[in-house]
Amino acid sequence: MAAPTTLSRWMAFRQRERLTCDLVDSEALTSMSKGEVEDYNDLRRRVISQDRVFYTPDLESLELMLADLLADQMESSSVASHMLSVSGRSGMGKSTAVQALGRFYDRRWRKQEGRNDDESFIPVVYVGVEPATTPKSLMESLAAFFNLPQYDLSVTRRMTQSQIKRAVVETMERAGTRLVILDEVHNIRSNRQAGMDAATTMKMFTDEIDATFVIAGIDLDRAELFQGDMGLQLDGRRRAHDMRGYSRPNMNDDEDPWLTFLDAWEEDLPLLKQAPSSLRQHASYIWDRTSGSVGSVRALLAGAARAAILSGEESISRPTLEGVGIDAHAEAERRTRAKSESSTKASAATGRKKAG
Ligand SMILES: Nc1ncnc2c1ncn2[C@@H]1O[C@H](COP(=O)(O)OP(=O)(O)OP(=O)(O)O)[C@@H](O)[C@H]1O
Ligand SMILES: [Mg+2]
Repeated sequence: MAAPTTLSRWMAFRQRERLTCDLVDSEALTSMSKGEVEDYNDLRRRVISQDRVFYTPDLESLELMLADLLADQMESSSVASHMLSVSGRSGMGKSTAVQALGRFYDRRWRKQEGRNDDESFIPVVYVGVEPATTPKSLMESLAAFFNLPQYDLSVTRRMTQSQIKRAVVETMERAGTRLVILDEVHNIRSNRQAGMDAATTMKMFTDEIDATFVIAGIDLDRAELFQGDMGLQLDGRRRAHDMRGYSRPNMNDDEDPWLTFLDAWEEDLPLLKQAPSSLRQHASYIWDRTSGSVGSVRALLAGAARAAILSGEESISRPTLEGVGIDAHAEAERRTRAKSESSTKASAATGRKKAG
């Protein structure tokens, strides 16, 4: 499904229900016709592929930080800290986390206000910033989110940046917008030729809108948005969270977050012979493969589950996991770690020899 970057897509995302399927026992599968098995397996593949949101330690921290900021925004007049920034490398789950938080508050505020189906109430706005976005095109994307005919691209192109900003600010005020999520903000570039500094635009915009901003992107400390004098001022106003993924598991602790994360994944995979908590025996191996990155875990476990359906094995074994290739970054990180571990071992061995 495409990112929910227009109002209608956001509405669909907010309301979307999860796809589920019943698990039949393996004998029942053998008594199905070929066509029935194909349909059943197709459904299971779709269940495996769908997006899910598990409650990770990163998501837990973000939820608390955002709850604080929203409370501050409602109760205090200072603009000083109404921005939450979510940084981290690709695949760490930034978009998933900020979208999940946006959906949570959207549903909650609608319920609180009794405006569940009121289309004029738009408490949450989500924009995915496209590559090489300038301050003006950022404003255009915000206008486009609302999908209003008067802010059609052909119109906004002829407007000045501050006219569009005015229009966006007014629309947000009217729509009761309280949370603005800007994703992929590493894509924002200053347009110096046009005298447009990304940080200046953003600062003016956040000063004018009485909403909390959540921005997400890759390595935000180096983002153009936070450079220059204005950038530094903006930088000083944000509360930052760096997505780190999971740390190496402590296998002696049954409640280790990594182990419970794998349990959650396992429970969600529609495999007919996967015994509960049996992924735990591969916990160290899976961590080594993925370095604790949520996106890499998804690729590995979804790939393994699909392979287990195809082979008829119906459970995830070590060879199945070994047969699944994942993102280049995770694989490279694993090789580097293996190299440094083997050189540490070698120097420890030389040290022992010398000492002996
Ligand atoms: N909390 C989570 N629970 C389950 N799956 C998750 C979670 N967070 C992320 N994922 C999965 O991991 C993958 C990467 O997540 P996401 O796209 O959110 O990462 P990202 O940090 O935004 O990456 P990029 O910088 O490339 O945009 C997705 O397939 C997503 O479904
Ligand atoms: Mg993303």
